[in-house]
Amino acid sequence: MRQSSLVVVANRLPIDDSVAPDGACEWRRSPGGLVSALHPLLRHTPATWVGWAGGTGPAPSLPDIGSVRMRTVPLSGEDFRDHYEGFANSTLWPLYHDAVEQPEYHRRWWEAYQRVNQRFAEATAEAAEQGAVVWVQDYHLQLVPGLLRELRPDLRIGFFLHVPFPPPELFMQLPRRAELLRGMLGADLIGFQRAQAAHNFAQLVAKVLELPATDRRIGVGDRVVRIGAFPVSIDTAEMAALAARPDVVARAQRLRHDLGDPDHVILSVDRMDYTKGIEQRLKAYSELLASGHVKVRDTVLVQVAVPSRERVTQYQILRDRVEREVGRINGEFGRVGEPAIHYLTQPFDRAELAALYRVADVMAVTPLRDGMNLVAKEYVAARVDDTGSLLLSEFAGSAAELPQAHLVNPHDLEGLKQGLLSALEADPADVTPRMRAMREHLHRNDIRAWARSYLSALDDGGSLLTHLAPT
Ligand code: ADP
Ligand code: F6P
Repeated sequence: MRQSSLVVVANRLPIDDSVAPDGACEWRRSPGGLVSALHPLLRHTPATWVGWAGGTGPAPSLPDIGSVRMRTVPLSGEDFRDHYEGFANSTLWPLYHDAVEQPEYHRRWWEAYQRVNQRFAEATAEAAEQGAVVWVQDYHLQLVPGLLRELRPDLRIGFFLHVPFPPPELFMQLPRRAELLRGMLGADLIGFQRAQAAHNFAQLVAKVLELPATDRRIGVGDRVVRIGAFPVSIDTAEMAALAARPDVVARAQRLRHDLGDPDHVILSVDRMDYTKGIEQRLKAYSELLASGHVKVRDTVLVQVAVPSRERVTQYQILRDRVEREVGRINGEFGRVGEPAIHYLTQPFDRAELAALYRVADVMAVTPLRDGMNLVAKEYVAARVDDTGSLLLSEFAGSAAELPQAHLVNPHDLEGLKQGLLSALEADPADVTPRMRAMREHLHRNDIRAWARSYLSALDDGGSLLTHLAPT
């Protein structure tokens, strides 16, 4: 077994198997924030990525991607159901997102979570060379830092949570809350998207584990675990370059034409997830159509909603409701050849996404709660001519960094409608400085800046950065 000095551990590998039009199996980049953040970062860095390849049964052996070795961790059908769909996505996911859907607690799921975390820890211990840096990602693997420290005390271990970390009154619901906190404390540095999350964590550690904790440091026996906010980002330059490519510009023009050359194109790109506020957005749009504030011929909404976690009941219910509502709105307000909403559930490659971003006069990103939301950042990065308005939920982590967006509370239907109208009617003299400021922010705070700030904190300013290949 070849070993690496940098090991990234994430539930998902950056590629997913899918079926090509000719029926053959092919690999494609998996949609989702974690892969979007880490994939461009690691592409040229010698590292191992430990993760799950998306199916069940024996782990396929995958080729390296660029300089990154893929180390697959197998999930059985039972692991998939009880760990991934169960504890990760029906207990932790809703709980960490303000319990917008009811979290479920089952002892069998917890057992699977422990079992799968142990398997990831063992695979990581095998893949890491002596003294290596291991960077564990996200809520699926909160026990891995603690388990790994027991197996390999020589490693430097970082943990980063891509999703929100909830306030104590929600986290306290978890039957196995102490074990989860202890698992995370196996890391040397725990990174969150926002300072509020680090604060929540410190409060919980003090309350549940009775450890000395501030919003920056936690004493665990003779170790100090550091915590802090490290807002994740995107490869800004890559998205900007893509959006400026002549074929992408031409594709955007073609898309606009195919949409009927409307005055305004509104775009939303989400995983089909109940945290993303898709239903609230559709309701707001429908009411604007009904009141005549928005007219189908002048304005079109393109809603991309790639299916996600499809066997989980709450996701199936959401998809049914969204599709019924899209059908109703199109039936009621559309005309022949002029639907009110263009609804697409396909995964797109990066160039097609960039073309969609280019064509959107307004990007509506209105989650009920989101750790960061990289789609909002991708849109800004793609607006290379400083045009376009971003409608952004106050409850997305990205809102803290992009105050020039039109910020809305997605629970407030009237506010959402007003925000959409303001974005649609924005004066170009107002649009340009807002977009320019957001783009400048993202150029300074891109994915490499994120990795630099995290890795230098993990090493207390030392030499870990040498692990990252220059761009
Ligand atoms: P989450 O992590 O909850 O999925 P983010 O907005 O942070 O939300 O990240 C979503 C990522 O998935 C973005 O990089 C986006 O470009 C990508 N994505 C979303 N929808 C699609 C799609 N239909 N095809 C390809 N990529 C997609
Ligand atoms: O960012 C949250 C997250 O769960 C990521 O860990 C993941 O990449 C993304 O959403 C997509 O979810 P899934 O891996 O369940 O398809």
